[in-house]
Amino acid sequence: SKPRVVLGFESSCDETGVAICNTHGEILGQALHSQIRMHKDYGGVVPELASRDHIRRLEPLMKEALAQAGLELKDMDAIAVTAGPGLPGALMAGSAFACSLAFGLQLPVIPVHHLEGHLLSPLLADPAPAFPFTALLVSGGHSQLMAVNELGSYELLGETLDDAAGEAFDKTAKMIGLPYPGGPALAKLAEVGDGQRFAFPRPMLHSKNLDFSFSGLKTAVLTTAMKLAGLDQPTETMQLTDTDKADLCASFQNAVVEVLVKKCMSAAAQTGHKRLVVAGGVGANIALRQALQTQASKAGIAVYFPPLSLCTDNGVMIAFAAALRLAKQPELLNNRSYSMTTHP
Ligand code: KG4
Ligand code: ZN
Repeated sequence: SKPRVVLGFESSCDETGVAICNTHGEILGQALHSQIRMHKDYGGVVPELASRDHIRRLEPLMKEALAQAGLELKDMDAIAVTAGPGLPGALMAGSAFACSLAFGLQLPVIPVHHLEGHLLSPLLADPAPAFPFTALLVSGGHSQLMAVNELGSYELLGETLDDAAGEAFDKTAKMIGLPYPGGPALAKLAEVGDGQRFAFPRPMLHSKNLDFSFSGLKTAVLTTAMKLAGLDQPTETMQLTDTDKADLCASFQNAVVEVLVKKCMSAAAQTGHKRLVVAGGVGANIALRQALQTQASKAGIAVYFPPLSLCTDNGVMIAFAAALRLAKQPELLNNRSYSMTTHP
């Protein structure tokens, strides 16, 4: 049968993404704009600026994706949009645009949970994992372990009780004076540091559940850094030697990696899945990849690291998730409700 075509929008944080996918799971067009440069001077994402920029970018990106696909709006069968979680204003920008467009075209709207988008995007990788698999989702905004049984059947196994893993990398990096976004910078410096020098806590390593916590670890790094800099109070700029910085980074990274790997292995043991997928920006971390690979192969588990372009926020993951759902549930085409579906 002729595949249905879905136009999808993502705007939950600092990336505006638009993509077109069909119900055969093919990507027909995609366009993406990252706001990283805009937020850099502020040392983090400024929600108000993010919302305004999404509003500016959505239409031109949509035109770019359509041109790439060689399609027009009249060729679309459904509109998909990230319903949350994310920054409320940013989500509303995408949702208002998508719902208005759908209303004008009299097309159905398919709201997509942002994390479902992340969980399904590894299916676009080569090789793609088959269902079921266990997923570690570690980004700037989320840290979760999920059982992905099949399309539409996801089970939360554990999650962070405070900071997301990427957030912990970013905040720790900022503390010791590395540029935003700090995760990659911290990881790079960690390569030349001594990861054994500081015995930072491994939060919840021995807890029975699959939850994580990273804020205490961040505080431990701060306390140590203050001691090294001879300070009683935290200040904006701490005087640290390059060696101290590198050792702090390496010791911090060791702690995070040890906890994540241990929890992944426990999760896989609990689900019995022989496939483990790592999604989200922190999945780019080489130390995490190596440690997971080593432990997983000992346990006979295959680890999938989808390309980073599929792990970080984008429009494809939203259009793709909606297209897969539409293929399974054609009745979604009957939805003619255009009230915004945003849930932050
Ligand atoms: O998935 P993502 O692009 O955006 C969110 O949805 O949050 O993840 C970005 C996060 C940032 O916190 C960034 O610092 C972190 O991923 N990150 C890394 C590395 N590359 C990106 N963290 C550790 N090591 C890396 N190599
Ligand atoms: Zn995300």
